[in-house]
Amino acid sequence: MKGIICYYSSTGNTKLACQYIAKHITSVTFDPFNIATDNDLNLAAYEIIGFASSTDFMAPPFLLKQFIDKLPVQNGKLAFVFNTYGLVSGKTLTVLKNWVSAWNLQKYMSIWSYRT
Ligand SMILES: Cc1cc2nc3c(=O)[nH]c(=O)nc-3n(C[C@H](O)[C@H](O)[C@H](O)COP(=O)(O)O)c2cc1C
Repeated sequence: MKGIICYYSSTGNTKLACQYIAKHITSVTFDPFNIATDNDLNLAAYEIIGFASSTDFMAPPFLLKQFIDKLPVQNGKLAFVFNTYGLVSGKTLTVLKNWVSAWNLQKYMSIWSYRT
């Protein structure tokens, strides 16, 4: 099974979490996708789609919303979102989940946070 993690990481913590997941979940081959630097995303190639971000002022970075809004809807695929945070995650995870909600994936979605 192939998966992708689309992430935003300004100082590397979230990227490290993505690498950890990709290394330790062996039943899925995860490709990383840095939304700030990578191009040519083809979601059709993936059965599981993840989004990950840091917490910036108790919310996910708006850059990630702009990225998600441009993607084609992926109804029915497996999905997950997670964030990293320093001290107070606030509504980051809920907001991140809602940004992906247009895809009608809630019942297939896992969400979690890592404190860094
Ligand atoms: C500008 C800025 C704002 C931040 N705001 C928060 C915040 O509101 N709550 C929190 O817990 N951490 C906050 N942090 C800490 C980061 O979310 C945390 O270190 C995260 O793991 C960074 O991920 P990254 O290295 O992938 O960018 C902030 C960091 C920066 C640089």
